Amino acid sequence: MKTTAAIAIGFIAAASANPLNLNTRSKAGSSGCGKPHNSGFNSNPDSHTITSGGRDRTYAVRVPDGYNDDPNKPRKVIFDFHGRNGSPENQYNNSQYDKYDAGKEYLAVYPAGIDEAWQGAPYAAKGVDDVLFVKDLLARMREQYCIDDDHIYASGKSNGGGFVDTLACSDEGDEFAAFAMAAAALYDDNSKDRCDKKRAILEAHGGNDTTILYNGENPTKTGGAVPNIDEWVTWWGQRDGCAADEGRTTQHDGYETTTFACEGLRAVVKHYKINDLGHCWPSSTGDNSDGSRSYCGDHSLDFTPRVLDFFATWDLTNAPKN
Ligand SMILES: *[C@@H]1O[C@H](CO)[C@@H](O)[C@H](O)[C@H]1NC(C)=O
Ligand SMILES: *[C@@H]1O[C@H](CO)[C@@H](O)[C@H](O)[C@H]1NC(C)=O
Repeated sequence: MKTTAAIAIGFIAAASANPLNLNTRSKAGSSGCGKPHNSGFNSNPDSHTITSGGRDRTYAVRVPDGYNDDPNKPRKVIFDFHGRNGSPENQYNNSQYDKYDAGKEYLAVYPAGIDEAWQGAPYAAKGVDDVLFVKDLLARMREQYCIDDDHIYASGKSNGGGFVDTLACSDEGDEFAAFAMAAAALYDDNSKDRCDKKRAILEAHGGNDTTILYNGENPTKTGGAVPNIDEWVTWWGQRDGCAADEGRTTQHDGYETTTFACEGLRAVVKHYKINDLGHCWPSSTGDNSDGSRSYCGDHSLDFTPRVLDFFATWDLTNAPKN
């Protein structure tokens, strides 16, 4: 009996020593639970601006249909990052999560980059800490909305995809259960040892991408060195504890899939190479933002449902531990 009481007192003391942390990371949902929000896409800067790193930062949010029917229901979240010269609206219409039943469930957040670019790229605005912006924006989301802390994800295209990788390699990435990228511009991840995190990673890349070349050449137009995509996929397999030769590649009509699955994990790294696609978010219909680009005409793979399937596989209880 004495032992039990001592443990209970010790636990209460430890808990009250850090009340803020308990409030923001509660299984019952975040402090924003119960607050009403209109459904749909909203980018109004009056209500969608925070200060981070001494700068005003803007973002958009897509609130699930029927949110106000149960504002106390914790929601899964996707942070979705636009490419260089893109915008929240542009990325919302690129990934089109709300076109799919599984995607409609998510609270989707579309941050805006300073000068329409993200940290890690050679052309990004100097001195901007976008990882801090994500931390501050996630805190804001928890205050304003009802957030399910175990189901927070990140996705992005091109420079936004490269930033998703930067986030995965940061301590702040511990808040995210899985990471998805299309045509990732990986200026910031040029060697296996660059990153010591274990993460669930999904990427899709066009075999005919002439902006961020599949084989990682360094044309001046990319503005910096980028890795060979197959090598980078293997680095992630190794970071997650697989051997370099444990990747399994299978051929499909117009694309190939490579997966790494080891240490009792399901495919913890998954990759799609779309043979004839350019620098695009892969779509089977071409009705998204990238669909109007001439080099996005390869419709072999619909990436968004693959991202949603991947995210559905992972949460913070089963994601690789660091
Ligand atoms: C590959 O991209 C180049 C440049 O955008 C384009 O001219 C060519 O037609 C593309 N090839 C295929 C097979 O899509
Ligand atoms: C999405 O992008 C496509 C291609 O650029 C465009 O035709 C369509 O109008 C856009 N949809 C929305 C809702 O902006």
